[in-house]
Amino acid sequence: MTAAPGAQQFAAVDVIRTKRDRGELSDAQIDWVVDAYTRGAVAEEQMSALAMAVLLNGMTRRETSRWTAAMIDSGSRLDFTDLPRPSVDKHSTGGVGDKTTLPLAPLVAACGAAVPQLSGRGLGHTGGTLDKLEAVPGWRAALTLEEIRRQLLDVGAVICAATGDLAPADRKLYALRDVTATVEAVPLIASSIMSKKIAEGTSALVLDVKTGSGAFMTELAQSQELARAMVDLGTDAGVRTVALITDMSTPLGCTAGNALEVRESVEVLAGGGPADLVELTLVLAREMLAAVGLDAVDPADALADGRAMDAWRAMIAAQGGDPDAALPTARDTHVVLAPADGVLAEVDAMAVGVAAWRLGAGRSRREEAVQAGAGVELHAVRGDAVRAGQPLLTLHTDTPDRFAWALQALEGGIAVVPAGQAPTPPPLVHGRVTA
Ligand code: URA
Repeated sequence: MTAAPGAQQFAAVDVIRTKRDRGELSDAQIDWVVDAYTRGAVAEEQMSALAMAVLLNGMTRRETSRWTAAMIDSGSRLDFTDLPRPSVDKHSTGGVGDKTTLPLAPLVAACGAAVPQLSGRGLGHTGGTLDKLEAVPGWRAALTLEEIRRQLLDVGAVICAATGDLAPADRKLYALRDVTATVEAVPLIASSIMSKKIAEGTSALVLDVKTGSGAFMTELAQSQELARAMVDLGTDAGVRTVALITDMSTPLGCTAGNALEVRESVEVLAGGGPADLVELTLVLAREMLAAVGLDAVDPADALADGRAMDAWRAMIAAQGGDPDAALPTARDTHVVLAPADGVLAEVDAMAVGVAAWRLGAGRSRREEAVQAGAGVELHAVRGDAVRAGQPLLTLHTDTPDRFAWALQALEGGIAVVPAGQAPTPPPLVHGRVTA
């Protein structure tokens, strides 16, 4: 839908005015403005004004679908329809300790689907999948298109960096939204995420939309609105899409930090691991398999009999990683003890995420390096009975002068209350959104 030479041109100021005055943008206006902005023919200040008008006045489903299509058309689109297995992907809106992609991709591959998982790095308090996998000695994130295809044929799962040419309009627009207080516009978030996922060429998509303190959307109603917008966009683009809304008020599993999360993912693949992480992995695997007609296969069997672990080892080795190598550990640790007998009533996701980030597990600027061994390890989870003086969590870092800063982040985020006074924890899955 790139404007062909001689195609109708518009004045950016008219497009902005239409949205400012609560009008609907036409398909041609949307195609033009996204293309012209990507080429540099619409100025940054004009796109800022338009993004703010969208934040304030919204976009209809038609407008958002067209906007998404225009962003996809700004780059190339992968195509896996010729693979012998059906392709299906999962996208999480991000959360603390959310390492689900790591066990999930090989698990779903072991059940017969192809999982092309193009991922990103972390920014802020939630970790990035590529940062986590780079803790595995030798593993490399950058693959060519040919390598991705080969690995999908041989192994069935690939987790790698998105190629530079997927929805370049989004890269430019996202950077602009970041500095103009327009990230929060639901149509812009939904089209940003879905343009990249649809361009990736998957035939089906399962969305894990997080809700709670450690999530991008903290309120359930906002998460539901985002899930609905994304499911509609996937459906309009011909991708079978379903969303689960899952809890992110407390960390997922017992670790937040790159190598710590890889270790825990391998525990799941070995048939162990924390109950919530295992449950979410299986719930998402069942959704992914059902979306491509493989619902007769039970992913719990593939976890129990070692097929998922075999697929993990093959996936890591195919990208130069050594699945048997020891994972890096941080040089220093600090243990936080329970202050009293009682029940661990609160382990706040945001507090743990910020602590892990301050310990060096995350970055605040794109070019920063992360510490592979840094992070937070929980020894008890929300709802557990604890005794005064027992270890509650261990902080890991290579730079021990960060401990005080990380401990500050945890203040008010961890609470032990007398037995019987702990509130009922929320469910792991809050809801499901379908076409
Ligand atoms: N993640 C994205 O990729 N885009 C957004 O707009 C927000 C989160």
